[in-house]
This record gives sequence, C-alpha cells and structure tokens, in this order.
Amino acid sequence: MCDSIVFSLFSDLHWREGDWASCEARLDAIVDRAVRSGAEFAIHCGDFCHDVAAARAMIAKYAAAPLPTWHVMGNHEFECSQSLGEVLAAFSMPRDYYSFDVRGFRFVALDDNFHHGDGGALKHYADESAWAKCHQEEVVLPPDQLEFLREAVASAPGPVCVFSHSSFLLPPESGGVANGREVIRAADSARAGRPVLFCNGHYHRNELVVRGGMAFFDVNSAASLTWVDGEHHAYPPEIMAKCPTSSHSFLNSHPLSAIVRMTMDGDVEIEGMRGGYFCGVDPEALGFDTADRAGRHVDTDILSAKFSLRQPSRLP
Ligand SMILES: [Fe+2]
Repeated sequence: MCDSIVFSLFSDLHWREGDWASCEARLDAIVDRAVRSGAEFAIHCGDFCHDVAAARAMIAKYAAAPLPTWHVMGNHEFECSQSLGEVLAAFSMPRDYYSFDVRGFRFVALDDNFHHGDGGALKHYADESAWAKCHQEEVVLPPDQLEFLREAVASAPGPVCVFSHSSFLLPPESGGVANGREVIRAADSARAGRPVLFCNGHYHRNELVVRGGMAFFDVNSAASLTWVDGEHHAYPPEIMAKCPTSSHSFLNSHPLSAIVRMTMDGDVEIEGMRGGYFCGVDPEALGFDTADRAGRHVDTDILSAKFSLRQPSRLP
C-alpha cells in the first residue's frame, strides 16, 4: 500500500453570472495542475459560485474533471437559493457534510453555515436573506456535525484532513466559527495521535498555523483578492463593463491552488503558488484598507510549507 497521498486544494472561486474573473479558465487551470501533480482528487473549501442554478455549466465542468472532485459548502453557494436542498441537488450531494477514505487517509467535509436565530435555535443560512448569507455575523458548527467529526476522527484508519468554509482557529470576533475552540478540542481528544490537518477558505487570506499534531491551513481565493464597499474604476472599462460588481472587487492574476502531499506518518508538504495583482491593480495602493477582522491584509499567494504532524498537540 502506498503510504502517502496527493490532493488538489482550492477555495473561493466565486463564479457569478456575468463572470469577469475568468473562473472557467481558472477552474481548467486548477484541474490541469491537479492532474499534472498526480492528485488523487480535488476539493474546494466553499464559495464555488453565487448561484447554483446559473452556475450549472461550471458545476458540470467540475464534475466532469478527470479526477474525483468534491464540494464544501460556502456561504455564497446559497446566495440566490431558497434552501439547502436546492444547493445539494445542484451539486449532486446527498448531504452537506460527509467523509470519505482513500487508502487509509480520512477526509471530512463540514458545513458551518449555521447561526442562532430568534429564540436561540440553530438555523441554516440557506433559509436567510441574501444579505445575511453574504454578511454572516455568526457561524456555528451544529452539535450533530461536532459529533460526526469526533466519531470520524476517532475511527479514522490514519491521518485526517478536515475541510470547512470558515476557520475553527480564528476567534469568533475575527470571523471564526463561534464554537471553533470546542471543535478543535473534540478533534484533539479523539485523534489518539493521528495527524489532523484543518483546511478552510472564506477569508481570501494565506496562513498556516502548526500546533504539534494539528495544523490549520487558511486557503487563499482562486480568483478574488478582496471585496471593498467603496467603488473603484481601476481596471480597463471593457473589462469592468462585463460585470457590475467588478467596481467592488479586486482580482488575483493567477488561478491559485495548493497541491497537498501527506504521508501516513503525518509529514505534510504544501506546494503553494505565486499570484499577483490582476492588471497590476493593488487595492492598497489605491487607498483601500484590505485588513480582515483578524487584521490580515490581502496576500496574492498560497504559501508553500513542509511540516510534520507527528508531535503531540499543543492546543491554542
Ligand atoms: Fe465565504
């Protein structure tokens, strides 16, 4: 049995109708890189698109890739949809959270798009307004998924990778999952020495935190650097005319993805990618403050790193 695995990881492609970010070509490039790198599957950490009905051709393209492809639920998937079921059907997914094994490695995908509604009951953002979906004020992993994760880690035949849209490591006041600390503790108490790699998207930032036997990889967007509330007209008019939202967006010049290699012993190698400013336009040079709620500024790359998850945990 081969004792290592390679997979392709990307996030936040953000295809929308009237796409000006060339998301189709970006997806082609990501898949090509995955195949060239010997990836056994590709997975994204959410925000594949803004409207699953309009994105039918993109979703089909991803499904038809010459390797298995997986979706993780981002908040924007639901933006133009009325229900979780509508999005699941569009993605041909039986459930919004799941796990699968490949030759002794376990992969777990979670859906953290929940919040406490009026009266305190947990509600899925699919049932909320488009505004609420786009501006999630609270993100919670529900108890059934917490138990699912605990069981998936405890019964894993080897190393575990956990994919979500939001971060369990970032504190809630910085936009992280409200019960993220509880999620991390559950995984740590269940892992019994197994390496665990958490991967998330959502923030369009580029960060890796390694804490003993667990690591937390914040995966940068494959297309978008950032969204700004103010307007800009920095790209050529013929480009901006293609999409009314382009005056609020800044793009990466490159289709970012990561190739992740992991051994059964917990040695991990992330092969990242250099990006850049589309048309040379840097939002901070134009005076936009790009700091996210954690104070992290726009970054055009996905980092490369080599690290070991063989050690016992040192929890945050
Ligand atoms: Fe998001």
